[in-house]
Amino acid sequence: MSYFRVASLRVGYAGQDVIKTISLTFDKGRISTIIGPNGSGKSTLLKAAGRLLKPYSGAILLENSDIFAMEDRAVAKRLGILPQSPTAPMDLPVHCLVAYGRTPHHGFFNNFSKEDQEAVSWAIEATGLADKRFKRIGQLSGGERQRAWIAMALAQKPEILLLDEPTTYLDIHHQFEVLELLQGLNRDHNLTVIMVLHDLNLAASFSHRIIALKDGIMVADGDPERVLNTETISEVFNIRSKVLRISEDGISKTVAIPLGVRH
Ligand SMILES: Nc1ncnc2c1ncn2[C@@H]1O[C@H](COP(=O)(O)OP(=O)(O)OP(=O)(O)O)[C@@H](O)[C@H]1O
Ligand SMILES: [Mg+2]
Repeated sequence: MSYFRVASLRVGYAGQDVIKTISLTFDKGRISTIIGPNGSGKSTLLKAAGRLLKPYSGAILLENSDIFAMEDRAVAKRLGILPQSPTAPMDLPVHCLVAYGRTPHHGFFNNFSKEDQEAVSWAIEATGLADKRFKRIGQLSGGERQRAWIAMALAQKPEILLLDEPTTYLDIHHQFEVLELLQGLNRDHNLTVIMVLHDLNLAASFSHRIIALKDGIMVADGDPERVLNTETISEVFNIRSKVLRISEDGISKTVAIPLGVRH
């Protein structure tokens, strides 16, 4: 039985296909990153996988159950999604936003348990927001706000976490902090991560698998060393690049250097 599967997915908006039949199988406990140009369908794919957008055909299967046929809470306990541009009331305090992540566990009308409270505190600590917990969303910087959303998704404690560009707005230090946090959760708790990133080198460093999309079609899928090569980068992004394999602290890394637009 496969763990999480995008099966012959066709999905888009107003009857127009964006994703033109894609099938992917995700194993438990792996980090997969979707890359591709603006408008290639990355968010659309992620939204369908996260049950925010209904497929035209095909299905999203969690241990062989169609997630659109499952109860909201049953899905939300296991699958969390952080969309690309989430919105919240500007006067909402950070700890309240993060507490929303616990909704699938306690329901809207039930009291917050000790476990709920611990999950919220842990998520706030883990994202480095302890000193901001009583601030309002509107009083945060772009990066702090992004981390507050990540904290909400973490507080949900899902087995599968979908994140659409979680490092947008973050400085390089906080980009690494967020990705190292996800990597740690993956290593220690077997969290399955499926995310969208624009930075090819961060994608290569933090992913077991990279999936490249272009015009709603999957053009490459595999480990970072295989997917990140000059030809694929040229095909997907229409740029010239040099790809280096370097060894750092005994770990081999793939580094892509963009050189310019292909004319
Ligand atoms: N709500 C919507 N209604 C109609 N069309 C949409 C909607 N959202 C996205 N699209 C269109 O679907 C296509 C794919 O968009 P999508 O957001 O999946 O791209 P993306 O790969 O995530 O791009 P980006 O890197 O800019 O986030 C685009 O042509 C976009 O204009
Ligand atoms: Mg997007």
